Amino acid sequence: MAQTLPTTMRVPYLDLSAQHAPIKDELMGAIGAIIDKNAFVLGPGVDAFERRFAEFCGAKYCVAVNTGTAALHLALLAHGVGPGDEVITQADTFIATVAAIMYTGAKPILVDVTAPSYTIDVRAVEAAITPATKAILPVHLFGQPCDLDALRAIAKKYNLVLIEDASQAHGALYDGEKIGSRGTATFSFYPGKNLGACGEGGGVVTDDAAIADRLRLLRNHGSREKYRHDVLGFNFRLEGIQGAVLDVKTRYLDGWTAQRRRVAGAYDALLGAFERPALLPGTVSAYHIYPVLVKNRDAVRETLAGVGIETNVHYPIPCHLQPGYATLGYSAGSFPLSERIALEELSLPIFPEMTDAQVEYVALHLTRAVAS
Ligand SMILES: Cc1ncc(COP(=O)(O)O)c(C=O)c1O
Repeated sequence: MAQTLPTTMRVPYLDLSAQHAPIKDELMGAIGAIIDKNAFVLGPGVDAFERRFAEFCGAKYCVAVNTGTAALHLALLAHGVGPGDEVITQADTFIATVAAIMYTGAKPILVDVTAPSYTIDVRAVEAAITPATKAILPVHLFGQPCDLDALRAIAKKYNLVLIEDASQAHGALYDGEKIGSRGTATFSFYPGKNLGACGEGGGVVTDDAAIADRLRLLRNHGSREKYRHDVLGFNFRLEGIQGAVLDVKTRYLDGWTAQRRRVAGAYDALLGAFERPALLPGTVSAYHIYPVLVKNRDAVRETLAGVGIETNVHYPIPCHLQPGYATLGYSAGSFPLSERIALEELSLPIFPEMTDAQVEYVALHLTRAVAS
């Protein structure tokens, strides 16, 4: 393998230009149609996308909003989460998951993730339940589904709301069903996500007509009728141009996800010796992120950068140790696995257009860097 590889090759972490080039005319046409209609906020571009994304997920409704953070915030509010409530989530996630709980006035109760899947520790979830617990907010981090059967059973047993943070899990499968096909799940359409807008975007999918209605109300200043405001709401509307872009891109999402799985399969075959999260039985990842754990992570990153390989870290500081979240009352040692992931996680390049040669190049240089 080593002899056939060039000594340097540029491998970006992701390549949005490669994604957009073949569909540029289609995107520009969709954007142009919105400009022609002056339908810049919500409107037909967003309506069409909502129908298509709900269908993609196998859900009845999608309510599009302007960010994945707003999707979390409104999903919690629409399910009645507010001051005095506790919401259980994981320490190892993007900060927006925890922030959204705090925006509602509820208190985030963090638990650790667990090996070998690195998904939320369902036993810790059950142990964290108190009379104030209102909801559980697991995250399908890296695109990898959590133990939904166990979480659904806990939610049912204790009469809790279950909301899934699926910001990284578009098209991931649980027991053959797409994430978002049951219950309420939130998505981010930030540009680098598996489905990304040309700007910010987010959405909530649900089968519950009353929740969907509440979400539509909350995203639009509590208004169904112009200048009449039935509840305190927000301006979390998705822009028409982003809806039109997302509507086009959703048509390609299954194909892109299949390509991500090809890349991940190739990495799996070459990186068997590395510690990686194991998928739970019956799940298929959307591979938003391909994580490996390496002891000397920062030095390895630098070595890889030196041979043209761009990597990332998700995330260098776990939520409970973020300076702005000290009031939550956790400290170093509270969640050992989340803390180890923060120190050792390395996200390898992964995107649908990545070639087999690029995968081999990354695997070879990573193996060398770790050995040196
Ligand atoms: C797990 C997770 N939750 C929430 C979000 C927030 O989404 P956004 O950046 O669109 O607000 C993200 C995106 O970065 C995410 O990865």
